[in-house]
Amino acid sequence: MKTRPVSILSTVVFAVSFASGVQSISEEIETIQPEPCTVRAWVRAEDLSPDHISRGELRIKVPRAECANQIASVALRLQLDEFGEFKYLKRGAVVPEVQLSNQSAPLGYADWMGGDGVYDYQAHDDGLSDPELWTVKAEERRAWTTEVILLENNPDLSQPIVAAFTVAVPRVNYPPVAEKYHYLEGGPVSQHSSSDLGYRYFAVVTFTDGHTQDVAAGYTAFIPSSSQMNVPAPFTWSSTFEDSECRDNGSPAWNKRAEDLEKCLPEADRSSFAAEITLEEGNVLQRGRLLKGRVTVHSTKNGSTTMSDITLNIMTLSRDHWAQAQAAAGGDVEFYNATSWPCNPSYGRRELYAESENYAYLFYENDEEWMVRNGRFSSTENKPISPANPYYDFEIEVPPETPVDFTSYYTTGESFLQFGLTVLYSIDVAKCMQPNRFKSNVPGDEEMTTDEAAGTEEGLWDMYTRVGKPAISNSRWYRSMTLQAMVPVTVVGNAMIQHPVPHYLMSGAAAPVLRSGLQLEMPASFPLAQPVFTVEGVANTSARLMQSGTTDPYKQHQQFMIMTRLRRDYPDPTRNYQKGDYAGVLWKKKVVAEERGILPLRTEGLNGGESQRPFHVTP
Ligand SMILES: *[C@@H]1O[C@H](CO)[C@@H](O)[C@H](O)[C@H]1NC(C)=O
Ligand SMILES: *[C@@H]1O[C@H](CO)[C@@H](O)[C@H](O)[C@H]1NC(C)=O
Ligand SMILES: *[C@@H]1O[C@H](CO)[C@@H](O)[C@H](O)[C@H]1NC(C)=O
Ligand SMILES: *[C@@H]1O[C@H](CO)[C@@H](O)[C@H](O)[C@H]1NC(C)=O
Repeated sequence: MKTRPVSILSTVVFAVSFASGVQSISEEIETIQPEPCTVRAWVRAEDLSPDHISRGELRIKVPRAECANQIASVALRLQLDEFGEFKYLKRGAVVPEVQLSNQSAPLGYADWMGGDGVYDYQAHDDGLSDPELWTVKAEERRAWTTEVILLENNPDLSQPIVAAFTVAVPRVNYPPVAEKYHYLEGGPVSQHSSSDLGYRYFAVVTFTDGHTQDVAAGYTAFIPSSSQMNVPAPFTWSSTFEDSECRDNGSPAWNKRAEDLEKCLPEADRSSFAAEITLEEGNVLQRGRLLKGRVTVHSTKNGSTTMSDITLNIMTLSRDHWAQAQAAAGGDVEFYNATSWPCNPSYGRRELYAESENYAYLFYENDEEWMVRNGRFSSTENKPISPANPYYDFEIEVPPETPVDFTSYYTTGESFLQFGLTVLYSIDVAKCMQPNRFKSNVPGDEEMTTDEAAGTEEGLWDMYTRVGKPAISNSRWYRSMTLQAMVPVTVVGNAMIQHPVPHYLMSGAAAPVLRSGLQLEMPASFPLAQPVFTVEGVANTSARLMQSGTTDPYKQHQQFMIMTRLRRDYPDPTRNYQKGDYAGVLWKKKVVAEERGILPLRTEGLNGGESQRPFHVTP
């Protein structure tokens, strides 16, 4: 059941992958141009974590032979950049509402929009890019940088050189990196906040003529430590199921859906459902461990809708507290809700982490493994649920890439268990809400029996239902809605330590240090982190956040390709936060290649410990 145009989200995702594909092609073209000399750089390195020395290697390659002797020295720099931006409505400013238009609907309009009403978005869209109405700001916080020279004295770069380094990290918890989609769909946006951060390596190349060049050499991850939990105790929570779609204020699509629903299935006729949730080992979820519990659904009001099935999903939301605080101070009272779930889609993000299931396929030893390996899923399949059998006992692994809850300068990660309850209504209600869909009777339209044995028998007579499972009515998809119940949880890392590690925003926090070679001892002292703030030029922020265009779902549908071409031209300070390769995955490839004899394994005792030494190292 979706009368709200569902294409918007998929448009975003497609637009982003399209745009970034184009970008990498143009970058490759740059590197093969004849002049001037170019250098390529890669880093492979262990992920960073508190009170830990991460080993790594920088590889430098000069593609053109005549440039091989033009490099005087190469330094390596690592920096943590954080970014926040917002667009909020000035105090008292009002964006004109979308108006019902007197124009007649174009052909096919009703099929796409689910109704014949044509709306005029012009004044509303103009308002979204009117600088009189909005305040925008974007800022970058460089938390620290550390740099060390790895190659000196005109190294011979006729062959690629690999140089070893280490990063000593003080006992400070820096933020993890959440992988996210790029945030702007192209076209005008309303209230908006976004944040990002990246740990980036750069090779700082000094040429013999004295000029220098920063070459992006990849990015890395930080794995914060979580302190020891108390003895786990069962946790119980009660919650009601709600229809939690984003109530875009004034959006005709939303209004129409709400009106149709109320007309065809009045609130008073619907059942209400509540959940009792028990988590066996408490509401602190440790990554990589099992989450076990039970959800019990009961109706608190008996109406015409019936419970059908339930799913469970571990959901991570990010709340841009910096932007929300500034918008509140600036007088925008709607900003908080507009930039929180469910209106802010920046959830379901995964943490950057070399052990993540995302990269597991790189390490499969044979083709069969690909077939047998089970991915870890942070959500469950739909599980039938009924008044006679109102329980669902769940047991899922908390995936290792589930982001840990962490508050950084611009944003806070928050985790929830999200229970989705599918609720069915009658075919008559479905026909009332979507008359177009039922113009001709679809075969198999009849209501399904609730008798499980009969349903299972029915399931043997189609090509789709798994043997032993009841058939699902064809009409089911048209006559269901999903209600949500949320349980707040805390996600912690898998390495638990005894004593809490200081948070990086505490005053006097120390910063990591890069060192050349294989120094595996902690330095005697660390420098203080000295953040540097840079506010982006307002012309650039406006170019990104005050774009003109249309929010009319019908026009967006028609102009799809035009939108995707627009986006990549906007200035975007975070565009290169994850440029190049992820150093952690390259490092893991090296370790695995050594284990499998693909790379020669060299070990030597150092400081009494075992350390691996790469084969091509310039000390
Ligand atoms: C639609 O409305 C506009 C302005 O309100 C008016 O000028 C125009 O004549 C109307 N068109 C029709 C077909 O009624
Ligand atoms: C709804 O109906 C079920 C089964 O008939 C019953 O057990 C339950 O108590 C009813 N709930 C309410 C709130 O009336
Ligand atoms: C924000 O959302 C909450 C919860 O849904 C609601 O009670 C509140 O009225 C909303 N605030 C505004 C300004 O819309
Ligand atoms: C604006 O963006 C362009 C392109 O990304 C960049 O070169 C320029 O430095 C930016 N200017 C300011 C003031 O941020």
